[in-house]
Amino acid sequence: MKNTSEVTIDLMINADLPEIMAIERESFPSPWTVGMFTGELNSSHSVCLVARINVKGKSVIGAYIIFWFVADEVHLHNLAVKKEYKKQGIAFQLMEVMREIAGKNEITAQTLEVRKSNIEAIKLYQKCGFVVKGIRPLYYTDTHEDALIMWADIKQ
Ligand SMILES: CC(C)(COP(=O)(O)OP(=O)(O)OC[C@H]1O[C@@H](n2cnc3c(N)ncnc32)[C@H](O)[C@@H]1OP(=O)(O)O)[C@@H](O)C(=O)NCCC(=O)NCCS
Repeated sequence: MKNTSEVTIDLMINADLPEIMAIERESFPSPWTVGMFTGELNSSHSVCLVARINVKGKSVIGAYIIFWFVADEVHLHNLAVKKEYKKQGIAFQLMEVMREIAGKNEITAQTLEVRKSNIEAIKLYQKCGFVVKGIRPLYYTDTHEDALIMWADIKQ
């Protein structure tokens, strides 16, 4: 789909799920199950992408992103980067690809929810043009944490 010297952004397939589950479990206090990922792969309104990294001739999954098309909006549902590949611009690259795909599908706005304490993610989203437009109090049942609701326009 999209290629730089080291990272290829590609559609997620079922065979990617073991590597994705390892990243998911190290990334979130309440990780998604395999069944949730399979559901996304089988859903017509969900786009599931992976960032494949070439390591000594072997392709490994460094990150993934899942988003939904809902009317004229794109909703970010999941994004995580494997610990050893963080801070190399991979999440930013995935967010850019989401914006590009949304723009080509006449989507006008992007939205997401993020834990109030997730400073690195909030900074990433701000770098991508998102701003906080609301709060869902106690949205996360595992930590009883608030969610920030962020939005960004897509300029056609
Ligand atoms: C949040 C996350 C996706 C960022 O991935 P990443 O590939 O490391 O991010 P990038 O390298 O693309 O960074 C892009 C921007 O994000 C921000 N950022 C990323 N990591 C950061 C950190 N540790 N501290 C502060 N800002 C950070 C910065 O603004 C950065 O831009 P800069 O490099 O110009 O400063 C990653 O830390 C992660 O997987 N976290 C766990 C899962 C998660 O929280 N997902 C989001 C759920 S809403």
